Amino acid sequence: MRGTRGAPAGRTGRNFRLLRLVPTTNNQYLPLNLPVMSHTILVTGATGTVGSELVKALTNRGLTVRAGVHSLIKGERLRQLDPGVQLVEIEYSRPESLRVALTGVDRMFMITPFSEDQVEIGKRLVDAARQAGVQQVVKLSAAGAEAEPGIQLGRWHREVEQYLEQSGLAYTLLRPGGFMQNFLNYNGDSIRREGQFYMPVGAGQVSYIDVRDIAAAAAAILSAPDSAHYGQAYTLTGPAAVSGHDVAAALSQATGRAISYVDVPEEAAAQAMAQAPAWLRESMLELQRLYKAGYAAGVTPTVEQLTSCPARTIEQFAKDYRQQFQAPA
Ligand SMILES: NC(=O)c1ccc[n+]([C@@H]2O[C@H](COP(=O)([O-])OP(=O)(O)OC[C@H]3O[C@@H](n4cnc5c(N)ncnc54)[C@H](OP(=O)(O)O)[C@@H]3O)[C@@H](O)[C@H]2O)c1
Repeated sequence: MRGTRGAPAGRTGRNFRLLRLVPTTNNQYLPLNLPVMSHTILVTGATGTVGSELVKALTNRGLTVRAGVHSLIKGERLRQLDPGVQLVEIEYSRPESLRVALTGVDRMFMITPFSEDQVEIGKRLVDAARQAGVQQVVKLSAAGAEAEPGIQLGRWHREVEQYLEQSGLAYTLLRPGGFMQNFLNYNGDSIRREGQFYMPVGAGQVSYIDVRDIAAAAAAILSAPDSAHYGQAYTLTGPAAVSGHDVAAALSQATGRAISYVDVPEEAAAQAMAQAPAWLRESMLELQRLYKAGYAAGVTPTVEQLTSCPARTIEQFAKDYRQQFQAPA
């Protein structure tokens, strides 16, 4: 059966009764009357690219969502999606903030930032979930994390995956490929200003995925009956592998502007990242080498299997985000 995209599931009485968080004097939010119901879902990194779409997808299903945010001010815009979204401040380096955020939580979707200490943060999140008695942890990982020897970005995720697998917690691993939204987050400025984006990936094709489909797949897993997806690892991709030129064509068509992809030598890409720390620069260049060689072109049917909707194409992405790729006025 194919689903209808965007149709929110009904808000069922049990799931929509909200657990309130009360503000305290030191700008923290504390849970009140814990625990009162099942299936409170904590999303960490909730203001980020994946997290904000996931909060949207979960509230559309009428689920009880606790948004773990780095900054309560930034988090306020999540409440505009649904005033019932609970906000809780999380600072990964402060285990106490994790303890508070996880109190009364049944399921956790864990997003770790792309930072030097991502493995440490991931393990800390797993420890905190175990101590809080969380039922299921869904971890945002990356496509190819299981490959050996793989690449550094995958190995960092794999180390946390293995820690989670051995934790005794019920878990599900989501391994998405490169995000379509990277063209906005990382290439948006040059596309808007110059009508060009620069990458050292030649004609390499990548099965980019729209982050909204990662969120839809995660929401399907997090709202499924207990144990339905326990112990599973899902590789999520878009519906087709596309080259930089294909992306440029889709953006040009959607915006009515001439947008082109410029294939640059790796040395130029390294130079552009000269100010970045070595761990970041080298891991990104390694990923782009993999793209160039065509190793990120594999397509899986998993988004459609989990959500009953086909994964969005690059053309759909370009159409939906066309305003954000327009030249500055
Ligand atoms: N981009 C891709 O193509 C791709 C592909 C596959 C997998 N991934 C994986 O996706 C993950 C990143 O997801 P994303 O793109 O949604 O991330 P993102 O947009 O960078 O968001 C990261 C979130 O984490 C929060 N955060 C950062 N430092 C924190 C801290 N110390 N304490 C508490 N919260 C903190 C941020 O809040 P503030 O902004 O307020 O600091 C933000 O909400 C990474 O693990 C990456 O490997 C990415």
